[in-house]
Amino acid sequence: MAAAQNRPVELVVADDAGDAALAAARLLADRAGRGRAIVLAGGSTPRRAYELSAALERDWSRADVWLGDERCVPPDDERSNLRLVRESLLDRLERRPTVHAVPTELPPAEAAAAYAEDLSHATLQLVLLGLGADGHTASLFPDARSLDESAALAVAVAPGLEPWVDRVTLTIPALTAAREVVFLAVGADKALAARRAFAEPPARSTPASLVRSAAGRTLAILDRAAAAGLPSA
Ligand code: 6PG
Repeated sequence: MAAAQNRPVELVVADDAGDAALAAARLLADRAGRGRAIVLAGGSTPRRAYELSAALERDWSRADVWLGDERCVPPDDERSNLRLVRESLLDRLERRPTVHAVPTELPPAEAAAAYAEDLSHATLQLVLLGLGADGHTASLFPDARSLDESAALAVAVAPGLEPWVDRVTLTIPALTAAREVVFLAVGADKALAARRAFAEPPARSTPASLVRSAAGRTLAILDRAAAAGLPSA
């Protein structure tokens, strides 16, 4: 893990949130068209990127889609990350990918174990991740025990912030195994976290700083506001 943490991050600074979403959408659409295994982020930022990627590539039938984390709520709950992905992406496609949903009908620990088992058969190409203002990514929260997980590919965790529901999250070993790790973060409220995650030494207080593709590339797509604290911005 230490070696992966030291790998560099390529920064892409877009003029605004729309351009940042488009940059992420192009990557998603391309990898989907090639039939790759793709992990999608939750939260609100990626919604526009998902809409654009559905417009750019209507046929995702050869791809597999996973979630980097999920809130333990029913799939039609407005807090569900699967619902976000369904509304902004899946419902807009001509041909859907194979969707690997977290089985949220199970208790969180069982859901995580089932998801980990499913993931053990996958070779992840692209992991899209968000960034919290506190430096979290997926549902890996600052200084949480989940950051020490070295074997399981998914674990159940307590919420680190709203919404206050249990989560299932991919772990650092699962995320760093992907050939491409892509962060998407926009807005001034992410500037400090972006600096800590992408321009300062790895730290457990900033989980996003611990997630780098072990053997491939790591990209951070930011708008100018989110990049404002970075030395090169
Ligand atoms: C989630 C996430 C989470 C998210 C960040 C950023 O389920 O909440 O996957 O890690 O990406 O909290 O969220 P926003 O895009 O809403 O700022």
